[in-house]
Amino acid sequence: MSIRPIIIAQISDLHVKRPGVLAYGKVDTTAALTRCVAELNRLDSPPDLVVISGDLVDTPRKEEYDHLLTLLAPLSLPFAAIPGNHDDRALLRAALPDQPYAPTGGALNMVHAVGEIDVVLIDSSVPGAAHGELDTATLAWLDATLAASTTRPALLFLHHPPFVTGIAHMDAQNLRNAGDLAAVLRRHPRARLVAAGHIHRATLTTFAGVAATICPAPSHAVALDLDARLPPSLKVEPPAFHLHVCFPGDAYGSVVTHHVPIGDFDGPYPFFARDGRLL
Ligand SMILES: [Fe+2]
Repeated sequence: MSIRPIIIAQISDLHVKRPGVLAYGKVDTTAALTRCVAELNRLDSPPDLVVISGDLVDTPRKEEYDHLLTLLAPLSLPFAAIPGNHDDRALLRAALPDQPYAPTGGALNMVHAVGEIDVVLIDSSVPGAAHGELDTATLAWLDATLAASTTRPALLFLHHPPFVTGIAHMDAQNLRNAGDLAAVLRRHPRARLVAAGHIHRATLTTFAGVAATICPAPSHAVALDLDARLPPSLKVEPPAFHLHVCFPGDAYGSVVTHHVPIGDFDGPYPFFARDGRLL
């Protein structure tokens, strides 16, 4: 294995509108994605792949996907995209004809070999519905894809979290057949991370014995309402994305997820002077 870690960036829930239109009448998702792309391009250690884990646009129509492509054009890194509940499979497939989606019925599943790891992306969207569910073909494709190796670590990406977050109105839309996904993962210990989106805020837990995360959004967050009596709402919190850094080693090595805020911040300042003295 190489010494350099493999870095997978994850951005999620872009909710791109037509030019000049704000999401929910409040949020400039165009400016947010522009800032996010600039932040990815200026990382000191360029990611090997950028995963976009769903909700690329907001109210799926061709104009929104056209605008999305314009905003992604400056991205200097390869990317892989799967749909969320705000996407349309046919429009997304047409917008990104170079994505190697597996021909498993309508679902847009794919796998990318990135150095010593496999990045597996599955489509949890249900046409016309907000909740997530993996269809039979996707579950079979995932099982076969993970069975293709017993040695390569695999990272799994999907839009809908297969676990509850405590935000009731979002949990109602989570992956309905999470048990089916768990059964597949338990058969394949090389799956080392389950990374989702949909909630627009960073979370960390375990699922089927595997580390599981949710990636924040570059624009707006679902408000942290742990009281089910509160009305569903959004909040424009500090934008961010995730970097999943994969280190080689015994037993599939390790994966560390870094939370990366988007923006210009004071620093960096060195800790030490040239003579080694602590400043
Ligand atoms: Fe979203």
